[in-house]
Amino acid sequence: METVPLILKKAHGERLLDTEIEWMVMGYLRDRIPDYQMSAFLMAVCQRGMDTAECTALTRCMRDSGECLDLSGIGHPVCDKHSTGGVGDKTTLVVLPVVAACGGYGAKMSGRGLGYTGGTVDKLHAIPGFSTELSLGHFIRQVQTEGLAVVEQMKNLVPADKKIYALRDVTGTVESIPLIASSILSKKLASGADVIVIDVKYGRGAFMKERNSATALGNMLRQVGSALGKEVHPVLSSMDVPLGCAVGNAIEVREAIDVLRGGGTEDVRSLSVTLAAKMLALSGMGSEDECRAAAVQSLKDGSAYDKFCRMVWAQGGDVSAVEDVERLPAAKYRQILYAERTGEIRKMQTDKIGEAAVTLGAGRRRKDAEISYGAGLMVFRKTGEIVKAGDALAEFYSDDKDCITAASRLYRDAVSVE
Ligand code: URA
Repeated sequence: METVPLILKKAHGERLLDTEIEWMVMGYLRDRIPDYQMSAFLMAVCQRGMDTAECTALTRCMRDSGECLDLSGIGHPVCDKHSTGGVGDKTTLVVLPVVAACGGYGAKMSGRGLGYTGGTVDKLHAIPGFSTELSLGHFIRQVQTEGLAVVEQMKNLVPADKKIYALRDVTGTVESIPLIASSILSKKLASGADVIVIDVKYGRGAFMKERNSATALGNMLRQVGSALGKEVHPVLSSMDVPLGCAVGNAIEVREAIDVLRGGGTEDVRSLSVTLAAKMLALSGMGSEDECRAAAVQSLKDGSAYDKFCRMVWAQGGDVSAVEDVERLPAAKYRQILYAERTGEIRKMQTDKIGEAAVTLGAGRRRKDAEISYGAGLMVFRKTGEIVKAGDALAEFYSDDKDCITAASRLYRDAVSVE
């Protein structure tokens, strides 16, 4: 087989055979296919798509590119959640502790930020000492004893996705239904959970801009999951405005802690409760209504917060930085952005707000770039609100003043006040 004809075959919109898909994925993983050819192939998939059978072949071959975990030793149904990527989405930091506080078992492998969307691993690394690289034994024991663990994708699991994901991030090849579906599912299938709930985002801050395409992604996830023997449950949620107020890493951890302590922002709380209730119900912990009530209670009575602290402790993190969030990393500079005129916020281009956060240093533009854990922004006013000239719209945090200037420009562009 030759690589260039396969790139052209997809570029011309033809269906690929399972063996051809495997050639591309395994060739790239084993360094027989260089970055530039894989980038061209990924771009062809973005433009031409893949049908369910191709996506199933892609998912299977990525799943089987490494080890697959067997979590049956945990002795309980294990649940996992994943988001297709959003701006300000810190729900994992709330959902897993809620699940554990309600008697469920949550074992999650998370990723780094991708494009303008944040990643749970980057957020957790904002907690001093927090390790997302646990041995398999540690991971399983922690889920058994504490009810939750969040780690980064283990190196021996789905190495093909790890390599392709990093390339997609820097080649404009993220926004594709089959690439997103295969990336998410290969990881979820290899990580061995019994219950898989996927938060499929749509809107301006999501890879799927329209609700229709999110529905299509949800269907693809469900169909490919079922073709590979796993029930997958998509939950659609809007990303037309950032979720909550914080967009960054340490500041998102702070916001999640506020929610875990019974306060915080309503949208973060409500989506977290919905996802946790679904995971608990599918794990056999009661009806969705009963599980919802238990989830709400765990945020009120502090048991979810306790679980979060237990997880931080078990993964080597500094619990004092959770108890006193002033100890979390902070950027050198901060600056407020004020409204220039009075009017209603008609729309927010949430993807540009995500870009502004990346510009401030909270995300990566190159796959090996360092990020600044204290960088990011706080959104004070959202779509539908009336603002007066001089009202604070947002606040920016960065270690570089020039980045604040660039991010302010992006943010002004992203928010229309009319
Ligand atoms: N999340 C993933 O894990 N992969 C994608 O491609 C997009 C979001």
